[in-house]
Amino acid sequence: MSDEIRDLTIGILGGTGPLGRGLAIRWARAGLRVIVGSRDADRAAKTANEIFEQSGVDHVSGLGNLDCTSVADVVVVAVPYDGHKALLETIGGAVDGKIVVDAVNPLGFDKRGPYRIDVPEGSAAEEAEQALPGARVTAAFHHVSAVLLNDPDQPEIPLDVLVLGDDREATDVVRALADAIPGMRGVYGGRLRNAGQVEALTANLIAINRRYKTHAGVRVTGL
Ligand SMILES: NC(=O)c1ccc[n+]([C@@H]2O[C@H](COP(=O)([O-])OP(=O)(O)OC[C@H]3O[C@@H](n4cnc5c(N)ncnc54)[C@H](OP(=O)(O)O)[C@@H]3O)[C@@H](O)[C@H]2O)c1
Repeated sequence: MSDEIRDLTIGILGGTGPLGRGLAIRWARAGLRVIVGSRDADRAAKTANEIFEQSGVDHVSGLGNLDCTSVADVVVVAVPYDGHKALLETIGGAVDGKIVVDAVNPLGFDKRGPYRIDVPEGSAAEEAEQALPGARVTAAFHHVSAVLLNDPDQPEIPLDVLVLGDDREATDVVRALADAIPGMRGVYGGRLRNAGQVEALTANLIAINRRYKTHAGVRVTGL
C-alpha cells in the first residue's frame, strides 16, 4: 500500500449495502481503517461485526452517516441515487476539506433493461460537488462489481477504476485506494464534468452482464 493512504480512515456512507460492504472488506483486508456508515448506527455496527466475522480484520467499525463523515479522512458515497442529494445535505460541513469519492450511478430500469437518468447538474458527482462546496469531490468505483467484491473466492478483482476530479492530489489518493485492492488499478479519467458518461456506462456493463452472465469491468489499454 502506498504511504499516502496508509494512515487514512475511510468512511463509507451506505456501507451496509453491497458496494459499500464490499469495498469495506477489501480495504480492511489491505490494512486500512474503515468505518461503515448507515442511517442507522446499529445497522452499521452489525455490518462491521459481520465483516470481522468473515475476514478476521478488527479495524472496521460502524457509525451513523454523520459521525462516520466526521471521523473519516476520506468519505465514500455508496447510496442509491434516489437518496443521494438528501443524504449529502445532512453531512454538509462535516466533510469540509475532505476527499469525497462518489460512486453513485444514476440509472433507471424498465422492461428494456437499464438506462441512464438525466441529472440536472450533469452527473451524480457534480450534484455532490454542488451539495458539498467545501469538499474535494471525486468520482470513482462506478464499474466495480459488488458481487465480486463480496465473494471470498475472488482474491483479485481485475478492473481499471476510472477516477475523475478537478483536484490532482485528491484523484491521486483515490487512485491509490483503487490500487490497494488486489487486481484493481486506479486510472485518472478526467475532470468531474466528464463523470456523467462514466456513471452512464454502467448501464452498458449491466446489459453485458445480463447477456453474457458475467460481472464485466473495464480495462484501459495503452497504459
Ligand atoms: N452494487 C454494485 O455492484 C455497484 C457498483 C458500483 C456502483 N454502485 C453504486 O453504488 C451505490 C450503492 O449501491 P448498492 O448496490 O450498495 O446500493 P443499495 O444496497 O441500494 O444501498 C446501499 C445503502 O444505502 C443506504 N440507503 C438506501 N436508501 C437510502 C436513501 N434513500 N438515503 C440514504 N441512504 C440510503 C442503505 O443503507 P442504510 O439503510 O444502512 O442507511 C443501503 O444499505 C448506488 O448508487 C450504485 O449505483 C453499485
